[in-house]
Amino acid sequence: MSKSTHTDSFLPVMSAIAREAGALLLPYFHRGLKIEYKGDADLVTAADRASEVLIRERIRQQFPSHDVLGEEQGLSDQGGDYRWYVDPLDGTTNFAHGYPVFCVSMALEHRGDDQSRRIAGVVYDPTRDELFTAELGKGAHLNGAPIHVSKAAQLKECLVATGFPSHKRHKNPNIHFYHQITLRTHGVRRAGSAALDLCNVASGRFDGFWEFNLNPWDTAAGALIVEEAGGKVSRFDGSAFELDSRETLASNGLVHDALLREFKEIFAGRGLDPLPDPGEYQR
Ligand code: IPD
Ligand code: CA
Ligand code: CA
Repeated sequence: MSKSTHTDSFLPVMSAIAREAGALLLPYFHRGLKIEYKGDADLVTAADRASEVLIRERIRQQFPSHDVLGEEQGLSDQGGDYRWYVDPLDGTTNFAHGYPVFCVSMALEHRGDDQSRRIAGVVYDPTRDELFTAELGKGAHLNGAPIHVSKAAQLKECLVATGFPSHKRHKNPNIHFYHQITLRTHGVRRAGSAALDLCNVASGRFDGFWEFNLNPWDTAAGALIVEEAGGKVSRFDGSAFELDSRETLASNGLVHDALLREFKEIFAGRGLDPLPDPGEYQR
């Protein structure tokens, strides 16, 4: 059994596992594969499953006492001091359509008696060979080089990102947020991988990101990477982000309050710009 404690660095092992899982995904991506459905538009492929099997196997070999919460197999809980959060393939819809924006995301939490803390996170994008890593209190890195959030201080100079869930889409209020925030920024990207969206905030490519109803495996690594890169993560009312929050707002910190103010206005239905009719738009 591993004697590792949270004073040891888990990052080298986590990075190696993420790279191995990413390498496993690529041949599936290039040859294309059968799409299955978990819900109306909630896709899963053999690659999602194979990646999780591999990651769990590696964790079991190296850290047999660690618990794992993975998207495809759920929670294996032995009541241990450590829990992994695993998204074996974040961006499945992109992956299944041949759009090269997807990654492997893994975070490690230490579960103390009075406090649980995420202590390390890795996100690996195999198409760009980009490995984002962070350790609590030790900063964030991309392929070993330190990364920092952007310095944009006003919304009107920001590029931000969001995502839409694959189920209960008709009930999601995010289209209103997409509309309003698009009007107040350089634009809103919807690239289809929440873990990469968070890493792109951490590395200063995006200035902010928000999404409703993400799951712990989507956010556990990326949120730590944003914070360690100097950014901020909260709920939509500014309160502390938790893995089960279901509201994720990440930013460079400088535009966080401005985004929170916009969200408050949108929730209250104040000052919303009406949708133009197409004829008026053409004129
Ligand atoms: C999805 C992606 C997407 C986000 C969805 C997630 P999956 O994860 O992160 O960007 O908008 O909410 O479910 O299903 O590809 O692992
Ligand atoms: Ca995901
Ligand atoms: Ca997934």
